[in-house]
Amino acid sequence: MSHVQALGYLGFGVSDLEAWRDYAMNFLGLQAVEREDGSVDLRLDEYASRIRLIPDGPDDIAYVGWEVADAAALAALKSNLEDSGIEVADGSEDLAADRYVQALITFNDLDGMRCEAYYGPRQRTEQPFQSPLGVRFKTGRQGLGHIVLNSSDAKAAEKWYIDVLGLKLSDYIYAQAPSGESLSFAFLRCNARHHSLALFQLPYPKKLQHFMLEVESVDDVGRALYRAEERKTHISLTLGRHSNDEMLSAYYQTPSGFDVEYGWGGLEVDDESWHVLTHDAPSAWGHRFQIPSM
Ligand SMILES: [Fe+2]
Repeated sequence: MSHVQALGYLGFGVSDLEAWRDYAMNFLGLQAVEREDGSVDLRLDEYASRIRLIPDGPDDIAYVGWEVADAAALAALKSNLEDSGIEVADGSEDLAADRYVQALITFNDLDGMRCEAYYGPRQRTEQPFQSPLGVRFKTGRQGLGHIVLNSSDAKAAEKWYIDVLGLKLSDYIYAQAPSGESLSFAFLRCNARHHSLALFQLPYPKKLQHFMLEVESVDDVGRALYRAEERKTHISLTLGRHSNDEMLSAYYQTPSGFDVEYGWGGLEVDDESWHVLTHDAPSAWGHRFQIPSM
């Protein structure tokens, strides 16, 4: 069975593009590239775009782009989707150009979230990524980072992403929501990154709970904490170390209300030696929840 290789790109529909541009460049250290259609590309490596900010949006995830190896892998994935009874469309040449890829297919997950799978992402090696803050991000074959999605049926979603997209289960975390409710997270991987996708289920207003960017230097985790203090960016979860992927990170509220996890030191997994684990706490230490001040 063909499977996706990496979390390749994300689209965010945002209500305040100005605030996002500033946040992306001057807090996260991403490179912003203006587009003719009024949207903004965010770069964090050699890829032409990793995150697209789409103006006048509902402040949630608009689409997720999953990378496959080549045209044959894309065709195999399409067959697998069709065999699973999922409606799939070939992306037009215009859409492929818009996403800076050779070709793509589009389909929805169980919650109706738009998914895209593609091959041949355009690399801008002639215009190297330049972070306004000198930050370097860990990406490459591990993809852009990870996303955590709220699902109306997390168990069904877990099965869907494993059976249909070929992701593998890394582990589970049982935790308690700040509201006191019991929470269960499933962590799924498609490369050496411990997880590219995590799924949970809670009456939460957004599909995207957070996305994670991993920096190459632990110092950039510290610098971001101090930038947050200076800019008065809300720290949603204080500095901590996750139990399962060992990420040293803090979480910050984005201008869209969902969070970004900004971390370092994430665990790398290999399929031969990995076995599924269960954790009864999300963090070895830290990651204390902080209520946003209104
Ligand atoms: Fe995370």
